[in-house]
Amino acid sequence: MEIIVLPDTDAVARTAADVLEEQVRSGPSVLGLATGSTPLGTYRELIDRHRRNGLSFADAQAFLLDEYVGLAASHPASYHSVIRNEFTDSVDFAPGAVHGLDGSTKDPEAEAARYDRSIAAAGGVDVQILGIGTDGHVGFNEPMSSLASRTRIKTLTRQTRQDNARFFDHPDDVPEHVLTQGLGTIRDARHLLLLGLGEAKADAVAAAVEGPVAAVCPASALQLHPHVTVLLDTAAASKLAHTEYYQYTFGRKPAWQRF
Ligand code: F6R
Repeated sequence: MEIIVLPDTDAVARTAADVLEEQVRSGPSVLGLATGSTPLGTYRELIDRHRRNGLSFADAQAFLLDEYVGLAASHPASYHSVIRNEFTDSVDFAPGAVHGLDGSTKDPEAEAARYDRSIAAAGGVDVQILGIGTDGHVGFNEPMSSLASRTRIKTLTRQTRQDNARFFDHPDDVPEHVLTQGLGTIRDARHLLLLGLGEAKADAVAAAVEGPVAAVCPASALQLHPHVTVLLDTAAASKLAHTEYYQYTFGRKPAWQRF
């Protein structure tokens, strides 16, 4: 894992956008997109680069990490709607290039299997953006998720439903079930980019990157992946024991070495 502690949220957004820009400019790419608050600055930065510098997503495809069960794609809180409003409708993805799980499906198991097949058919994900939940989830793999899991239905913890209540009119409106890429599905991506912002994430970040690999902190499964970049603001990094080493290492990053 390369753990990089940056001064603020803007620096995290710019650095994450650099990683995604390099990927997209390298040729046809498959991006894995997270929703929630954490990647919003990154998406704003990419939209800005699209408008100012002609950064194009015309040859890219995107796959969302997860979706609420029971919400149609047209619901304003569905991750289909959120990613369109916050990012993909503001750049030039080709029609049909942004893929998500169908939260209104009557057959979640078949939908999950279809989704894993469609990611594989696209050639797999080149760069996967991830946020982290206060309970250590990535995607919606809640604690005790199998570290080898594939896309499937999960039940949200009370804590995650509370954390996400801000996106709904009423806390009871937050669906109890989700479809999410599994930890095994996520780890199939070639490069994982985990973003952590704010003090509320500090405990989960510390458990994920410095704790043992354990299902109780699903994000710790990322330690098993050969190419993970963790971008943190100082608040999210505040419970790490080895920040001095991460900063020492980053200060000596060879000029030729990419993220
Ligand atoms: C969203 C997702 C979740 C969020 C996590 C953090 O697609 O997969 O894992 O990344 O819940 O959410 P925020 O960024 O809103 O704090």
